[in-house]
Amino acid sequence: MSALEATWDGHGCDFADAVIAGLRGTPKSIPSRFFYDARGSELFERITELEEYYPTGAEIALLDAHAEEMAALAGPGVCLVEFGSGSSRKTDRLIEALPRLASYVPIDISEAALAGAVSRLRERFPGLRVTPLHGDFSAALTLPRSARTQKKLGFFPGSTIGNLTHAEAAAFLENCRVLLGANSGFLVGVDLKKSTDILLPAYNDRLGVTAAFNLNLLARVNRELGGDFDLSAFAHEAIYNAAAGRIEMHLRSCVPQSATVLGESFAFAEGETIHTENSYKYTVAEFEALAASAGWASRQVWTDPKGLFSAHYLTPA
Ligand code: AVJ
Repeated sequence: MSALEATWDGHGCDFADAVIAGLRGTPKSIPSRFFYDARGSELFERITELEEYYPTGAEIALLDAHAEEMAALAGPGVCLVEFGSGSSRKTDRLIEALPRLASYVPIDISEAALAGAVSRLRERFPGLRVTPLHGDFSAALTLPRSARTQKKLGFFPGSTIGNLTHAEAAAFLENCRVLLGANSGFLVGVDLKKSTDILLPAYNDRLGVTAAFNLNLLARVNRELGGDFDLSAFAHEAIYNAAAGRIEMHLRSCVPQSATVLGESFAFAEGETIHTENSYKYTVAEFEALAASAGWASRQVWTDPKGLFSAHYLTPA
């Protein structure tokens, strides 16, 4: 048994279905939420420590500088609900700043990352009620009973929203508005549009950690779905698609080859790619318009002096 109090699987056992459907498609793709098995979550933590990967440092600086102001907007006695909490490392700053915090509900798809975060937080904040939910944060959620009557502060840091298309992001923000309730606040971290001189190195780091993170998706297919991908015959690629306003990650087949997954064979031409991630970037105005389309009003926005990253405090319009 895991240490988690509430476990549910928003998508059933859909890794197999999603991989098969994605590899049958043209162009081939695999959804980015499957990066985060135990190994992938570990590699993502290493990405956040890379010199080139500016979003984590920029967001932590915003939280350090403005946590008191953010907490004052939320008010006393809230239940803090975090979507895609991972290691929950950024959350400490908010937990410390929020007056008489009622409870913390971290939601994450990686059971290992969630369990690690919960035991760390219970040690660091012994008086805090922590009620984790294991699953895909974009699936239909039911909050723990105790949270239902409390005022909620949603927390969606890290620009995780960048993984969603604009339509998906609007639908997700709207679901959150219903889940969090009329009296709630929502603090969302959003990566900003900027020069490719900064963007591209963040997804093409010199140590190759992002490449390992991308390739781990094929390793996971091999481990969990009996795949036989030759990892040395695929190359990590990250480009900026300016028209769509997003970083795209791909795995490019270096040679003509085929790979078998769950008994089905998939052929790759030389140079053909599997599209593995989108990471959308926004201007402040673009994100405010998106939030407005989902029924959220922007109450306050914080950005750093270099214009790298933004934190938005939203309330129901
Ligand atoms: C966790 C989705 C915010 O898009 O920057 C990091 C994931 N992918 N490096 C991002 C990621 C490659 C990250 N998000």
